[in-house]
Amino acid sequence: MRAELERIRQTALAALDSCPDEAALEQVRVRTLGKKGDLTAVLRGMREVPEKERPAIGELVNTVKAEIEARIAAVRSRLDEQRLARSLSEERLDITLPGIRFPRGHLHPLNQMLDTAVDILVEMGFGVEEGPEIEDDYHNFEALNVPRDHPARDMHDTFFVVGDKLLRTHTSPVQIRVMESRKPPIRVIAPGTVYRHDDDVTHSPAFHQVEGFLVDEGITFGDLKGVLSEFLRRFFGPETRVRFRPSFFPFTEPSAEVDIGCVMCAGTGSQPDGAACRVCKRSGWVEILGSGLIHPSVFEFVGYDPEKVSGFAFGMGIERMAMLKFGIGDIRLFYENDLRFLGQF
Ligand code: DAH
Repeated sequence: MRAELERIRQTALAALDSCPDEAALEQVRVRTLGKKGDLTAVLRGMREVPEKERPAIGELVNTVKAEIEARIAAVRSRLDEQRLARSLSEERLDITLPGIRFPRGHLHPLNQMLDTAVDILVEMGFGVEEGPEIEDDYHNFEALNVPRDHPARDMHDTFFVVGDKLLRTHTSPVQIRVMESRKPPIRVIAPGTVYRHDDDVTHSPAFHQVEGFLVDEGITFGDLKGVLSEFLRRFFGPETRVRFRPSFFPFTEPSAEVDIGCVMCAGTGSQPDGAACRVCKRSGWVEILGSGLIHPSVFEFVGYDPEKVSGFAFGMGIERMAMLKFGIGDIRLFYENDLRFLGQF
């Protein structure tokens, strides 16, 4: 019996020492300590052992069992350590490598300007409306008091589509569409793309405008001046000088062009070296938008009574505002999608 135990002990320990992995370890454990294992068989055979030897043999069985269990635990932790070491070296990650930068984009400078203008006007109480880019002659011209043979049509080099359809040459037709569908009081702005047959350093065939108008009882030119001066100071800075110059638009009477102190030369009219400022040509002022009190004929076209209501309107070009704000001399830079240019904003 003792010899048998010694044999079991040695076989088990030898097998354990050369155990390559968890599966082999489990096999040894089952073969030795399992229900049908060698050591269990010995315990069953105890009945045949003479009574007075039983305690000693029993003790020996326990010792062998404890020794094997301890060895199994030791082998298991050795295998665990090996597995950890292997996975650490195989899945090694060098955290000292520089990271990969994902460049973050941003809004196009024109959209930034458009959003800024819209945000300011919304804060000042205007609601936002949109109109179609393919317009009809009636809304783009006729109802804005520009009849078919009117010379003012020359100001707009129109892209015609078919019949009386055309690409809108300004956002002013949205005024007509809004007034046709609503009664005063109205405070609305209309941002959007407009089209003209025009292409040079300061003109693009497609560009962007923000239209605005307000209709109520008793609106005066003073309201127009107040709103536009406030808007321009919020847009270009609180120190911005603003002036109103008489002008002509068919859909307003009186009409005014609005200038701000030149942002390039700070209104001095000259460059640091004394040469004429290229943006304002020595005048110290740059034109920024068109405006006026809405013409009585326009009110008649939309069915309003010009004796009862009055209002003002204004329209500005976003490209022009962006060129002035950022000091850009060529409008085409906005459309070339050169990241060296766009990345600066
Ligand atoms: N629609 C004009 C243009 O595109 C700009 C303009 C001038 C709009 C005066 C207005 C206005 O609302 O009152 O040239």
